[in-house]
Amino acid sequence: MNDRELIERAVDAARCSHSPYSGFRVGAALLTSDGRVFNGCNIENSSYSLTICAERTAIFKAVSEGESRFEAIAVVGSADGDFSVPCPPCGACLQVMTEFCGDDFRVVLSDRSYKLSELMPNRFTADNIK
Ligand code: THU
Repeated sequence: MNDRELIERAVDAARCSHSPYSGFRVGAALLTSDGRVFNGCNIENSSYSLTICAERTAIFKAVSEGESRFEAIAVVGSADGDFSVPCPPCGACLQVMTEFCGDDFRVVLSDRSYKLSELMPNRFTADNIK
């Protein structure tokens, strides 16, 4: 699965977005180390703070099915159907990635990818609570 295909899977995932409040559809496609892909979308709630982002939906789906080794995640978002504008993960999602993913985990946005360590340097990890 190359990055372009992973982005396409993320765009597919955004179709399931439940985002009646923001109107912003987000899709994520998470690639495991053994080549499986888990999709996620943002799921909003009338009690706004209960909204979950697409990235966390994908990660929690995967972990709940026994996966915990990940290579990359593609993320797309759009209010108007144009998913070509980069949509970086929020800080909460980067923190959840930190729980399961190493420095080299790749976040694919539009036509380039970033390492997790680039997007969130000096992040809080399990080592900080030893
Ligand atoms: N959203 C995500 O799904 N992922 C992010 O990393 C940032 C924001 C969603 C949450 C909400 O449904 C909408 O985008 C607008 O904030």
